[in-house]
Amino acid sequence: MVDRIIVRRSGPLEGSVTINGAKNSVLKLMAASTLTAGTYVLHNVPAITDVSIMSELLEAMGLKVTSPAPNDLQIVNPGDLTPVAPYELVEQMRASIVVLGPLLAAYGEARVALPGGDDFGPRPIDMHLRGLELLGVTFDTAHGYIHASAPNLQGARVMLEFPSVGATENVMMAAVRAKGQTVIENAAREPEIADLAAFLNRMGAEILGAGTSTITIDGVDALHSVEHTVVPDRIEAATYLAAVGVAGGELTLVGARPDHMDMLCQKMGEMGVRTSTDPEGLWAMSQKRLRATDIATLPYPGVATDYKPFLVAMLSVADGVSIVTENLFSGRFRYVDELIRMGADIRTEGHHAVIRGFESLSGAPVKCHDIRAGAALVVAALGAEGETEIYDPWHVDRGYANLVEQLKAVGANIERVS
Ligand code: UD1
Repeated sequence: MVDRIIVRRSGPLEGSVTINGAKNSVLKLMAASTLTAGTYVLHNVPAITDVSIMSELLEAMGLKVTSPAPNDLQIVNPGDLTPVAPYELVEQMRASIVVLGPLLAAYGEARVALPGGDDFGPRPIDMHLRGLELLGVTFDTAHGYIHASAPNLQGARVMLEFPSVGATENVMMAAVRAKGQTVIENAAREPEIADLAAFLNRMGAEILGAGTSTITIDGVDALHSVEHTVVPDRIEAATYLAAVGVAGGELTLVGARPDHMDMLCQKMGEMGVRTSTDPEGLWAMSQKRLRATDIATLPYPGVATDYKPFLVAMLSVADGVSIVTENLFSGRFRYVDELIRMGADIRTEGHHAVIRGFESLSGAPVKCHDIRAGAALVVAALGAEGETEIYDPWHVDRGYANLVEQLKAVGANIERVS
């Protein structure tokens, strides 16, 4: 039988869910463990496929990754790694490109397979390369691999054309061992960048300003391994906010960081989902039909592009017409076709989607195209009449440790069958 998630109309949801560590942080912290020899311990690590892929990548380079307890990861870096990221792994997970910066810092060279495109359209790495070039890295591309070399990394002023998350992280990780000072201007400000900087500073790096647009890094001669707790996943938290928005009810998101989701909570409020800071994390309640609103994705602290599929799912059943504008990834509307199969009225034109909300969608067989799109189908299905069968749920496993179980525990009619 084919693996799939089956959802029937649910709600109201009631109870609490626990927010796992952030996928988009843990992958970078794991990459940073290539910086110097020693034993690293990470807490609050989500049990997701992308962490397994990053573990495989680290092991391919010579590190040893184990899980001594649930949600803990121990990474032993014996030193003398092979600074190569092979195609089979980079191809499975584009985020692998973040090993480039730390490998250059540690070994003065790296060979990383060129990542291909994905469902979001082309995702170039030109800003990563241009930033690293300013630190003295030279690149040679052949046979599908980038060979980067920098025998002497030199601090520099790096002005990013766009606040790219990956480029900021790669430059920051290379700069921690460069000679002198690096200043990244127009840096990405995502909370996961601040988490990576906290990890690096704990290792002995000297980074100031992470979480703002200007990050200053003073290169140091030596680093050491550390223990660190991963920041909670604001995108996972957003998934549950959307779920309570569609299904109604009252949820506490234990461990969520409301201060990382200000703009999202504001948008939730416009749609009729009440949120408030709770001693345990974030509390949310939704009692009536959602209201339409306009949304544009932007780099942090704007509304994250990763939230968009959940927001579109919510607006599909909201009262009124909404316009959603995507400003980061051109092709990020593929899941819309699946929502249309469930009866949603959505028209896309370039970067925009116009959504006319219906009182209810209708359950249908649908297919996941990526992590967040899959989760958005789950959200939509909670409010759809009848049964929705969601195929290819492995996409969801890449970023969610226990979405089905947690939703079931708060009253959703959902199961995974295989
Ligand atoms: C990260 C997140 C992803 C999130 C995105 C934006 C991880 C693993 N992934 O991806 O979930 O959606 O941030 O918040 O953390 N760009 C270039 N050239 C570059 C780099 C980026 O043109 O060299 C463009 C991209 O195509 C995109 C925009 O810049 O249009 C933002 O990309 P970026 O912030 O780099 O996203 P990622 O780090 O890949």
